[in-house]
Amino acid sequence: MSTTTLGPMRTLVIDHPLVAHKLTRLRRTQTSSATFRLLAEELVTLLAYEATETLRIQPVAITTPVADCMGVEMADPRPLVVPILRAGLGMLNGMVKLMPTAEVGFLGMVRDEDSLIATTYADRLPHNLANRQVFVLDPMLATGGTLVAAIDLLLERGARDVTAICLLAAPEGVKRLEDAYNDRDVEVTVVTAALDSHLNEKGYIVPGLGDAGDRLYGVV
Ligand code: URA
Repeated sequence: MSTTTLGPMRTLVIDHPLVAHKLTRLRRTQTSSATFRLLAEELVTLLAYEATETLRIQPVAITTPVADCMGVEMADPRPLVVPILRAGLGMLNGMVKLMPTAEVGFLGMVRDEDSLIATTYADRLPHNLANRQVFVLDPMLATGGTLVAAIDLLLERGARDVTAICLLAAPEGVKRLEDAYNDRDVEVTVVTAALDSHLNEKGYIVPGLGDAGDRLYGVV
């Protein structure tokens, strides 16, 4: 699986035929919500494989039917997976399928459609995140406002290693994260299936896939 790395804040654009195929189906207007949910889940599992490349592990002694040997297991404290409500929920199954023993916290953020400013309406996260590797799930990195607000909150609680998994990213959002974290002593990584062209005047990613929450769950 080949990747592209940009700048000190790492942005990994996963260049893989299966990722590209599933993303193309996801983008299509004709794709139903049921198929969209399935594709989003599969895509996250593929992205999560790459996003967990630096997952902390520790040695463990085991016994196979044939011999004693050393293996590895996920290190303590366990990683924390944080879907950003509502659309990030559509990515959770695909992530925990790969890391069933990870802990899950929830963060509810909503962006004002006019000002595009993100505010927190639900916070179900541990208070102390020191030494925790955190994986944030947010399908669309658009202006970056929501993700910066979410990552700032995680850093305030002691996290120093945050990976955001996004189905799609816009250059404007990547730049916003670079501006926020390039000069800070923290590991912030974005893993995405594609870096699209730009944002339109309404803050939507172009060509994008529309409103990820609406496409997952139907318009509310
Ligand atoms: N949020 C979405 O759901 N879609 C976009 O294109 C941008 C932000």
